[in-house]
Amino acid sequence: MIDLDNSEVYQRLDPAGMRERIGELPQQCLEAWQQVLSFKLPKGYSNIDRIIILGMGGSAIGGDLLNCLASLESETPISVCRDYDLPHFVDGKTLVIASSYSGMTEETLSSFSQALTTPAKKLAITTGGRLKDIAGQNDIPILTIDYKAPPRAALAHSFIPLVGIYQKLGIISDKSKDVAEMVQILKDQQSTIDDSCPLKLNAAKQLATRLYSHLAIIYGAGFLSAAARRWKTQINENSKAWAFYEIFPELNHNAVVGYEFPTDLAQMLFVVLLRSPHLHPRTLIRYKLTAEMLSNAKVSHEIIDAKGESPLSQMMSLVFLGDWTSYYLSLLNETDPYPVKIIDFLKKRLAEEK
Ligand code: F6R
Repeated sequence: MIDLDNSEVYQRLDPAGMRERIGELPQQCLEAWQQVLSFKLPKGYSNIDRIIILGMGGSAIGGDLLNCLASLESETPISVCRDYDLPHFVDGKTLVIASSYSGMTEETLSSFSQALTTPAKKLAITTGGRLKDIAGQNDIPILTIDYKAPPRAALAHSFIPLVGIYQKLGIISDKSKDVAEMVQILKDQQSTIDDSCPLKLNAAKQLATRLYSHLAIIYGAGFLSAAARRWKTQINENSKAWAFYEIFPELNHNAVVGYEFPTDLAQMLFVVLLRSPHLHPRTLIRYKLTAEMLSNAKVSHEIIDAKGESPLSQMMSLVFLGDWTSYYLSLLNETDPYPVKIIDFLKKRLAEEK
């Protein structure tokens, strides 16, 4: 198996430097926070009673994370639209935020074009592309991302601006302290999970080693649901591996029944359970019982506890651990974590089909 403590491995398998991008997350969160604090929302944007975030993949997950955070305190319904068509419930009090790192994602451009024909307030988060052009032509405010990375590695710039915008709209409380705590937690965590920390002390390297040659299934709950989804998508895109996620308590009403068959599968699976003491007390009991059921079904698993106090720190500490774990798993799979050739190929083929 690949030696994760050998620096030659990193140069050989990660020539484009995904590990630098992942390691920059704490600093990027700070910079994105400072940027959004100085971003001025137009006056007419104060009267909002519903928010829709348009986006796909690495640009949509910021919306999910925000949704998890806001659901703990906000009365404003928020949804993430990952499709070509804008939902029908959009009206003049809806804020539609189109988030696309490249500004070229066709589903996002399609639903955003539909939003242009509605009285909804609009906002764009992007580096450029068609989204920037369309927003500019329609006098729609643009939060420009100035950070070069694959979209999924620019997470700070799709998620943190949303936190700032929601705070400005009064939908969530002031998160300045929570952002500061989160950045500190991530910085502290960094030295224990980055590539300089040896396998015997490194939880991310150890987890990747356990996940190697297994099908990863991630369990989350409540405000950790988006973190579970992020683990799944990072294992897909960085490690180039199959992965799925499930959410408590729903998974206790179906997924657990399926532990029996196919009988050969149990040895191939590895379940990661993302947990926080802030989850519903009954859900925490479900974690314990489900771990017992997994043991009985001879399915390898591990419970991972979130770090920090605030929900923001807890979510992001799990995201950070997942990002590093998926990174090491890509190296163990002897594959470059950076490119996503299949997505690029699909986008090219779709463009030819027009
Ligand atoms: C690639 C990635 C993808 C993209 C998705 C949408 O790193 O994460 O999931 O995010 O294909 O593209 P953008 O973000 O440019 O709208």
